[in-house]
Amino acid sequence: MRIAVYPGSFDPITNGHLDIIKRASRVFDEVIVGVLVNPDKKGLFDIEERVLLIQQATKEYNNVKVESFSGLLVNFMKEKNARAIIKGLRAVSDFEYEFQMSLMNKKLDPNIETLFMMTNAKYSYLSSSSVKQVASFGGCIKGLVPEDIIPAIMEKINRK
Ligand code: PNS
Repeated sequence: MRIAVYPGSFDPITNGHLDIIKRASRVFDEVIVGVLVNPDKKGLFDIEERVLLIQQATKEYNNVKVESFSGLLVNFMKEKNARAIIKGLRAVSDFEYEFQMSLMNKKLDPNIETLFMMTNAKYSYLSSSSVKQVASFGGCIKGLVPEDIIPAIMEKINRK
């Protein structure tokens, strides 16, 4: 089994993330979306909510699983028997941070490879934080996030 982990904060999942998940699911036998539990960063959604939203958005992909993890990504990978980390690259500005992380993960576990997928051009400007900002100021987020999770995002934003 070729198992890949697609890690991130996913607060919330965007169409850019979903596009990477869909493409990775065609290349690997199994893709585990790993949602980082970061006690230092309070997000809009709590971890269980993020997992549920991603499950909802990926329900048509039979080989995609969604799980949360805390601590080092390489330890989660080992636990899941996964050898590849999937990361999406949107722009040159993503490169430096991603390069650094991939080298650190390689240092921590030389058996693990980080594979980068270029974002779909139509989502190259998209980020979870810009989606939250647009939604909180009353802008339309249609086309930016999976259609069926828009009500959950709007409800959360309006309750804040
Ligand atoms: O969506 P994000 O916030 O850019 O994702 C960052 C993530 C979750 C991939 C990264 O923070 C991570 O892997 N954290 C786990 C801690 C870890 O393994 N650190 C060592 C590598 S620098």
